[in-house]
Amino acid sequence: MGISGSFAADGETKTKSVPAQIEFRNVTKMYGQIAAVRELSLVVHRGEFVTVLGPSGSGKTTTLMLLAGFEAPNSGEIFIGGNSVAAVPSYRRDQGIVFQSYALFPHLTVRRNLEFPLEMRGMKANERAARVEQILRRVHLSDYGDRMPFQLSGGQQQRVALARGLIADPPILLLDEPLGALDRNLREQMQGEIKGLHKEFGTTTVCVTHDQEEALTLSDRIVVMRGGMIEQTDTPEALYDRPATKFVANFLGEANILDETNFPLEANGQPPEGTVAMIRPERVRLLGRAIPARVDAVQRQTVKVVVEEMIYAGPLRKYRVRIGNQVLVLREHVAAGQETFERGDEVHLDWLHSDMRYVRV
Ligand SMILES: Nc1ncnc2c1ncn2[C@@H]1O[C@H](COP(=O)(O)OP(=O)(O)OP(=O)(O)O)[C@@H](O)[C@H]1O
Ligand SMILES: [Mg+2]
Repeated sequence: MGISGSFAADGETKTKSVPAQIEFRNVTKMYGQIAAVRELSLVVHRGEFVTVLGPSGSGKTTTLMLLAGFEAPNSGEIFIGGNSVAAVPSYRRDQGIVFQSYALFPHLTVRRNLEFPLEMRGMKANERAARVEQILRRVHLSDYGDRMPFQLSGGQQQRVALARGLIADPPILLLDEPLGALDRNLREQMQGEIKGLHKEFGTTTVCVTHDQEEALTLSDRIVVMRGGMIEQTDTPEALYDRPATKFVANFLGEANILDETNFPLEANGQPPEGTVAMIRPERVRLLGRAIPARVDAVQRQTVKVVVEEMIYAGPLRKYRVRIGNQVLVLREHVAAGQETFERGDEVHLDWLHSDMRYVRV
């Protein structure tokens, strides 16, 4: 695939480029003795938004650098739109890139920054100007075209960077920590912006982040990486609700791993070999000092615990409670007239057996 991918041969802009499928086939990247990415296989479908999530050093950026062509794999192959890109240098790949290390050109105005990818593709000046005005409107920066990057706020710079990544309507878009530099409010706002742009352009997008909330909000699917390998790939809902491993359960949200010695788990059968039981904090119900009479006791696990700490968190209360040798966390939405508990209070908890998950250790 060449630089003319989005445009017809006579320089006329095609109205829409076709999003491309991306495939990693058994890709390994070594840095000396370290396998930054190890035998990675992954298909990103056309138009899909996939987020690569994982702790620092897990190989996220390396994965994206390989895809962008800034690094070459030691073994394995990458396909974009069904074609191997092994022999295609990065500047000849038709892709939008928003990397932190690939900032706006500081000596060019916003308008010139946006024109750059179009110029690279040989688009005529009058067409370029029209396209730049169009995308500036789209990211709510119509009045900012003549400014220099340093005259923009962080959020505005980020919007220009996104616009630059998308302006040539590439078949694939690569984002590395696109919102990393922004504060919380702005980040949420920009998440909405990215989502909207993805819906509109339909570009196959691979986004790298270590922000789990961002991953959950933006993605069709999430790839969780650990030590250069894929730990689990699934939709945000499935990944949160049915994590396959303890690592994923702990990395994506909070997890209570239930130590068998404290809980009679036999009602639900013994945990399968090599797994432990896990319950999410919001699935645990705080009953209070007395156990209320219930009709569905059979499906519930009830335990008596001692409150260690109540943490006030606005509309939520977080409790840390102790049972035997372990501490559980739970969350409660604050409601009118609700009883609160303090350190040292003995209370009962329960949860549905069906809310427990067995995760591999
Ligand atoms: N150019 C390089 N030379 C040597 N080792 C490298 C290089 N780039 C990355 N690594 C190593 O490869 C591994 C994966 O790095 P990578 O940058 O992909 O991690 P990451 O998941 O993006 O982490 P972060 O969340 O901190 O950005 C790390 O152990 C890192 O030290
Ligand atoms: Mg990184």
